Amino acid sequence: MTYLAQISQSADFLISKGILNPEVGVVLGTGLGKFLDYLVVEQEIDYADIPHFPVSTVEFHKGKLLFGSIGSKKVIAMQGRFHLYEGYSLQQVTFPIRVLQKLGIQHLLLSNAAGGINKDFKKGDLVLLDDHINLQGGSPLSGLNSFEYGGIFPDMSAPYDEKLNNILVTEASKMELLLKKGVYASVYGPQLETRAEYRYLGRIGADMVGMSTTPEVIVANQLKLPCAAVSVITDECDPDNLKPVDIAEIIAIAGTSDEKLSQLFFETIHSIV
Ligand code: HPA
Repeated sequence: MTYLAQISQSADFLISKGILNPEVGVVLGTGLGKFLDYLVVEQEIDYADIPHFPVSTVEFHKGKLLFGSIGSKKVIAMQGRFHLYEGYSLQQVTFPIRVLQKLGIQHLLLSNAAGGINKDFKKGDLVLLDDHINLQGGSPLSGLNSFEYGGIFPDMSAPYDEKLNNILVTEASKMELLLKKGVYASVYGPQLETRAEYRYLGRIGADMVGMSTTPEVIVANQLKLPCAAVSVITDECDPDNLKPVDIAEIIAIAGTSDEKLSQLFFETIHSIV
């Protein structure tokens, strides 16, 4: 079966479960899940039950899709995403984004946990992605660079939607929440970076680093699906003063910013016209 046919089958399955006319898609990153408290949930489906969906293999990543409403808007939220480091291909990692778009979403909000390279970034900060550097060694469009999949050689001059970014900035300021801006570099993982790698990332212009998001954003751009993304800074990656970190700590720090990020997404979804 072709990838295109798999996308259709997944979407048809979700439609058969009552997931109709979603407007906004939300991907919740590591340690981030409180957003779901804002969603009036109508349907909850384990990834394992969706045809062709990859299954999250890392124990702390939940794997379910929730459908519901925020105000008058229908929203699909993915609790847990797929990562290259789990052994999935870039096409598997981005499969859900194509399914969500097939279901009709018109906006995509992404979140992630990231290491802070910029010395002004502190643990718990929220940072709006201004741009990115894809260092994952491949493209999710490889082999799918055709009109059937949305287009050839998609433009990446403005990968993050200006309108969505403006709404996020406006809502953050209404909440008196400091929303910084930065360039996100994506790496393969799962190991964290060496001091030399953090130094290198800073020199090439990265403000933060993580193991996700850029494949999803590349696919969203091919599909001309407006998207925006926010990182939670979970560790400070100063190569001259690097402390060991572990994943439990990263998840705990993400948890401390979960509420403000969730509220920001909630208010943003309300304000999308
Ligand atoms: N590096 C890569 N990915 C990450 C980090 C990091 O320091 N922190 C959270 N995700």
